Amino acid sequence: MAQQVVMKNTGLRGVAVADTKVSFIDGEKGILIYRGFRIEDLAEHSTFLEVAFLLLNGTLPTRKESSDFEAQVLKARPLPPYLLESLRHWPREARPMDVLQASVPMLAMAEPELAEESRGANVGMATRLIARIPAAVAAWHRIRQGLDPLPPDDSLSHAANFLWQLHGKKPDDEAAHDLDVCLILHADHTFNASTFACREVASTRAHMYAAVTAGIGALSGSLHGGANAEVMKMLMELENEKDIPGWVASRLQSGSRIMGMGHAVYKTMDPRAKYLKQMAQRLGKKTGQSRWHELSTEIEQTALKAFAEKGKTEIQPNVDFFSAPVYHIMGIPRDLMTPIFAISRVSGWCSHIIEEKFAEAQEKPQLYRPQAEYVGRYCGLMGCEWEPPEARTDA
Ligand code: ACO
Repeated sequence: MAQQVVMKNTGLRGVAVADTKVSFIDGEKGILIYRGFRIEDLAEHSTFLEVAFLLLNGTLPTRKESSDFEAQVLKARPLPPYLLESLRHWPREARPMDVLQASVPMLAMAEPELAEESRGANVGMATRLIARIPAAVAAWHRIRQGLDPLPPDDSLSHAANFLWQLHGKKPDDEAAHDLDVCLILHADHTFNASTFACREVASTRAHMYAAVTAGIGALSGSLHGGANAEVMKMLMELENEKDIPGWVASRLQSGSRIMGMGHAVYKTMDPRAKYLKQMAQRLGKKTGQSRWHELSTEIEQTALKAFAEKGKTEIQPNVDFFSAPVYHIMGIPRDLMTPIFAISRVSGWCSHIIEEKFAEAQEKPQLYRPQAEYVGRYCGLMGCEWEPPEARTDA
C-alpha cells in the first residue's frame, strides 16, 4: 500500500506524477525542449507537421516519413459531412471552444480504428485529429457568419490551409510561415493542466478522442489557454488608456491578475513569449499596427516593475501575453485565439496520450486515483439520521 502523501490545495505544483519523454522545461533558465530539441531550433528550421511527427514518434522524420505523414494529414482534412451538417444547426453565438469540444466526440463516431488498442492505430487517430481540428475551427467560424465551410486546398501547407479555410483568402508565404511558427511554439508543454487532463482520461483506457475532448475543456479556462483571449480583451480595453501605471496599480491592489503573466513552472520569461514578442513587433511594423506591440510592452514593463517592488520577480510574461497581439494582427478574432492554441496543442496531447497508453513497463503510469481529505458533514460511520422531507427545516 502506497504511503499517503498530503499535497492538498497545491495544484500538485512540484509533484512528479509520471515519467515522460515528450518534452522538458527548465523553469529557472526559461528553456523548453521537445524530444531533445530546443524550441528555438525547431521554430527556426522545422515545420509544424515535422514537429508533430517528432512529438508523436520521438524522432524527426526522414524526407520519406515527412511526405508520408503530410499525405496522411492531407487525406484526413475533409470533415465528415454529418459533422458539417450538424454544425449548421448549433446556436451561432456558441463559443468556439465549446463547439470544438463538442465536435471531437462527433469525429470519434466515424473513426475506423476506435476499437484498436495498438500504438499504430493511436498514431493514426492522432494524425486525423491534427488534420481535422483546424478544419472544425474554420468551418464553425464560417458557419456562424452565415457562410459555407470551404473545402481544403491540397496545394497549401497545414497553416496556410487553415487560414484559407478560415478567411477564404490564400495567405502569403510569410503569413503562413508565421502561423506555422506559432503552432510549433504551442505544440507541447509537459504536464500542463490540459495535457494532464488528457493523460488522466487516457489512464482509464478511454480512447484518444475522449481524452482530447477533456484536454479542450481544460484548455478553455482563463488561467490556462483561455488567457490569450483575456489578454486581447485587456489590450482592447486599454487601447486609449493614458495611465497604464495607474491601471496596473489598481488592478494589483484589487487582487486581480494581469492576464498573460506568471507561470506555474517558469520563474523567468517564458521562451515562447520572447519569440512571440519579436514576432508582434515585426508584424506590427509590417502591417502598420505597431500600437499592439507598444501597448503590450508598456503593460509588461509596468507590471514587471510593480511585481519586482513586491519581490515577485518570477511573474513574467507567459506564452499568451504576446500571442494575443500576434493573432490579432494576423486577423484572428479574439474568440478563436484559444482554439488556435488547441490546433497546435493537439499534437502534444496525442503524444502524451500515446505515452500514457504505451509506455514501457517500468515507466508505465497507473490509473490516476488521488485521494482527498473529507472535510464535509460527518456523523460517525453509521451516517447521519435520514429524515423525510416534511421533517427537514430550511437552512
Ligand atoms: N497577476 C497578478 N498576480 C499574480 C499573477 C498575475 N498574472 N500570477 C501570479 N500572481 C500572484 C498571485 O496572486 C499569488 O499572490 P499571493 O501569493 O500574494 O497570493 C502569487 O503570485 C502566486 O500565484 P499562484 O497562482 O499561486 O501561483 P502560480 O505561479 O502557480 O500561478 C498562474 C500560475 C495560475 C498561471 C498565474 O500566474 C496566473 O493566474 N496568471 C494569469 C493567467 C495566465 O496568464 N494564464 C496562462 C498561463 S500559461 C498557459 O497556461 C498556457
